[in-house]
Amino acid sequence: MKVNANTKKLLIELATKTRNNAYAPYSHYLVGAALITNDGKIFTGCNCENASYGLTNCAERSAVFRAVAEGYRHIDAIAIVGGPLGGEMEFASPCGACRQVLAEFADKEKDMEVIVARSVENYKDYQLSELLPASFKL
Ligand code: THU
Repeated sequence: MKVNANTKKLLIELATKTRNNAYAPYSHYLVGAALITNDGKIFTGCNCENASYGLTNCAERSAVFRAVAEGYRHIDAIAIVGGPLGGEMEFASPCGACRQVLAEFADKEKDMEVIVARSVENYKDYQLSELLPASFKL
């Protein structure tokens, strides 16, 4: 679902703030995410790496799992902010695994807005169905 400009700005700001908590001692690539549910609740997440590299959890999935744990399953939009430690923000497009996890909680008609941001002024806007067409659903 498309969200208004104020909501978009808020999500980008919260993703940027949450990025500061990213635990990324291996890749040194810090990512923050903030999502909004259909009833206006906001959840944030950051990437959390592990010495056993494959156990790393991305920022997007961290935010989704927090929402689900609190009983929220309908996500309208998510903002993602990422970049290397000490460097400029990049357009950190969600990985394939996160796209599939997001698809689970997107509205079938209204879709989900995915905002990939370098700052509140500089972002790219997608619908999840563009990023993951023909997603697997049961
Ligand atoms: N990462 C995310 O948090 N989200 C993405 O969509 C892509 C990658 C994290 C995982 C890992 O901790 C670091 O970025 C480098 O891949």
